[in-house]
Amino acid sequence: MTEKYRPYLHMTPDSGWMNDPNGLVFFNGYYHQFYQYYPSDTVWGPMHWGHKISTNLIDWQELEPALYPDESGMCFSGSAIVDWHNTSGLFEAGKPGLLAFYTSFIQPKVTLADGSEVEDPIQQQSLAYSQDGMTWTKYADGTPIIPARGNPDFRDPKVLWHAESQAWVMVVSCGQHIEFYRSTNLLDWGLVSEFGYRHGAHSKGPWECPDLFELTIEGSQETRWVLVVGIGEGAHCGGAGTQYFIGDFDGETFINHNHPESVLWLDFGRDYYATQSFSDIPVEDGRRIVSTWMSNHQYSLELPTQEFRSSMAMPRELFLFEGKAGLRVGQRFVKELSQVLSLDVQTPEPSDEQAISLYSLQEVMKFSADVTLQDTQTLHLNVYQDNPAYFEFVCVEQGIEVRSVRRGQFGSERIDEHFPHDYRVTLPIENEFQVEVLIDKGSVELLINAGQYSFTNLVYAKETQTSVALNVDSGSLALRNVQVSSLAGEKTC
Ligand code: FRU
Repeated sequence: MTEKYRPYLHMTPDSGWMNDPNGLVFFNGYYHQFYQYYPSDTVWGPMHWGHKISTNLIDWQELEPALYPDESGMCFSGSAIVDWHNTSGLFEAGKPGLLAFYTSFIQPKVTLADGSEVEDPIQQQSLAYSQDGMTWTKYADGTPIIPARGNPDFRDPKVLWHAESQAWVMVVSCGQHIEFYRSTNLLDWGLVSEFGYRHGAHSKGPWECPDLFELTIEGSQETRWVLVVGIGEGAHCGGAGTQYFIGDFDGETFINHNHPESVLWLDFGRDYYATQSFSDIPVEDGRRIVSTWMSNHQYSLELPTQEFRSSMAMPRELFLFEGKAGLRVGQRFVKELSQVLSLDVQTPEPSDEQAISLYSLQEVMKFSADVTLQDTQTLHLNVYQDNPAYFEFVCVEQGIEVRSVRRGQFGSERIDEHFPHDYRVTLPIENEFQVEVLIDKGSVELLINAGQYSFTNLVYAKETQTSVALNVDSGSLALRNVQVSSLAGEKTC
């Protein structure tokens, strides 16, 4: 189970391949996280739904896969809900149960006029059910509840209850748009609208892994609907990325409140894809918690791990805030993270006027500080001493420009071409801002202003000790509220 790049805090499969989080649902005291899973190899293969449970979103116990591929197809991504009132009629009278909606994918061979054979991909929406969340049965042996629609890319159903119009809604990606379906019995679904033509970011590939939920604007009673959509290639800094739209949803139609051509990214890193939110979080908790595949299709198959491939980003709680450029979705690490990390009681002091370096003997470290940047300064934030990744911050007219640089050569053409990066993003924020960095083996997550903006990147350092070094090229380094925490809470600097 232990290997150089096996994270401590991030969910990984015990062995085998993992991609998208699926069927995230809270039931009977457990968070259930299913995921795209191929147990027999560390590269993508016939898709199962792997299954883990947790009580704190950080420590996950792996169970038997919930869904296996069979004649009805592979089990592609999807969602789960609690059927509290046995609306589907699939459970024992008076007892709730779980329903999982997934895409069944088959590739029958068809013979062309010239006698040659080609694969004809068919994607359809299917259902599985479970009384206890542990053992699952495919409804009607996998026969789809929404059959193929002619588009080869028709997948990743997300189901939610729309209280205002008293119906279940299913959001499905189809080619490069989203389709909305409605149902009152969770079994029969009717198409009610489509969204996405000429809205947001498009590229060669299909839209994938949609999600839809309502969020309250921080500091107000008002709410907006947020539609999350992945694009597998052509995102802001190469490869896969997760965009979102903010608007209204009346149970049938999504209205985008921004210009169709405006593109909002949920995260500005390279490794944040297929974000999905948990269903049925208790009302008294009220959080919109998400899990996200921390990888990128551009190089995911060649990452330098041995027994397993891929991890999930630290689960995050989403929030909606009014920023300088309008309403935006931010994300903070779930509060459970602070229960497994302990804060160093002593506040580290800068080692000189212009720099501060913090080392941890451990392989996990969280660092946060408030920064005030002068107009002429460049702030460098390095993680690890062998410098596999760093950020730079400078003041520009529209806010703060963040440069993200990552290095890494692994001896294989595709990953060596796509993994290293050097790009800049301008964030509409003031020159006083907060940085928060979570370093675990194999990844660095940077949050700005308590999660208003985030950068999630895989980073493979040669060394195992973590470190954070901040320095400015001129003037003095103005830092306040420096906090460092680590797994066992030992003194780290
Ligand atoms: C996104 C995705 C989904 C699909 C799944 C297959 O990463 O392509 O659209 O359901 O992966 O594993």
